[in-house]
Amino acid sequence: MQLHRANNVADLRRIASRRLPRPIFDYIDGGADDEVSLRRNVDAFARYDLIPDVLNDVSAIRTETRIFGQASRWPLMLSPTGLTRMFHGHAELAVARAAAKHGLIYSLSTMGTTRLEDLAQAFAGPKVFQIYIFKDRGLTAEFVARCKDAGFDGLALTVDTPVAGNRERDRVSGFSLPPKLTLTSLLSFARHPAWSLPALTGAKFSLANVSHKVDLLASGPMSLFDYIGAQFDRSVSWRDVEWLASQWNGPLAIKGVMTPEDARRSVASGATGVMVSNHGGRQLDGAPAPIDQIEAVRAAVGDAPDVICDGGIRRGSDVVKALALGATACSIGRPYLYGLAAGGEAGVDRVLSMLGDEFQRTLALAGVNDVAALSRRHVRKSEGWR
Ligand code: FNR
Repeated sequence: MQLHRANNVADLRRIASRRLPRPIFDYIDGGADDEVSLRRNVDAFARYDLIPDVLNDVSAIRTETRIFGQASRWPLMLSPTGLTRMFHGHAELAVARAAAKHGLIYSLSTMGTTRLEDLAQAFAGPKVFQIYIFKDRGLTAEFVARCKDAGFDGLALTVDTPVAGNRERDRVSGFSLPPKLTLTSLLSFARHPAWSLPALTGAKFSLANVSHKVDLLASGPMSLFDYIGAQFDRSVSWRDVEWLASQWNGPLAIKGVMTPEDARRSVASGATGVMVSNHGGRQLDGAPAPIDQIEAVRAAVGDAPDVICDGGIRRGSDVVKALALGATACSIGRPYLYGLAAGGEAGVDRVLSMLGDEFQRTLALAGVNDVAALSRRHVRKSEGWR
């Protein structure tokens, strides 16, 4: 299937699965343990009905909103994802350029393959940096200073990764950084010439933002598990959130919050919002779907903080459901990565166009002419769902 024939995210996933060597595709596509949360994140959206209004003049629909204090053309943003250069040679810049074209916020991962300064220089659109509290707090403080200098608009602190999730597809495929050249992986790479082979040389895969601290390539291939095990700090606590909020002093979302209590605590600790997220089902398998937590989280924090529903969004109608339940916006990871793998910047452009069209069409069909008018009565838990 060609990019221009793709009708939906599932089509782009199919194209990506053909273009990428199997270990690389599985790294994007997979989740932790039995992938229960991965499936649940997507399936949960089907359990909500949309309740339409009629005869409400939908000739013009207002979709603009604000997230992280920044204007967004519609309530969607792009989640941080690591190792992006593995999926396409143009990496983060291709994704950020497509996001800017659509007036959407882009988030760069600490585990990204483009230096935050280079991204900021090449990309004038609204941008968030995804940060961790490292064992070395100096490294985190250094990131805060770099983000201020580079003009990032917000920070997303990921807190659902005290240890690496158990991604069994990656264990089976031997996924590591740079890719391990076993006979099986070599065969898979050889069968996918469209995927840029020069990327295999290793240098291109450096984690650009931390490579000055951790030379991943010096000691030979290092798996992501090893890296995370070495750098992530299991002792991170709410006190660190207060510390980070005071260092940054700007829009800050806690990414990975799942409960109303933790959402309230995030705001009390200085965050301006939460990303309700189970890391796309890649960390704690069995965690609930983000969409099922939105209503309670919104009730807990009140109207002002950003509540972002992150995980499982595959249709524009999913965003409408999340907003009706109280989300400020939604955020996507895999959908844009499938697009990137399928066709670089054009592929990301395609997925953002499709989701945006679906969102507009769903609002029109639901009789809603302003996103701000979406409310709880537009959505209901399906009856008779098994
Ligand atoms: C991620 N995610 C992620 N999150 C984060 O905070 N830092 C990171 O470096 C990464 N890296 C990463 C890589 C890949 C390949 C994927 C698929 C995901 C999680 C991401 O930000 C987001 O929470 C999920 O992707 C959302 O779920 P969906 O949209 O993929 O269903």
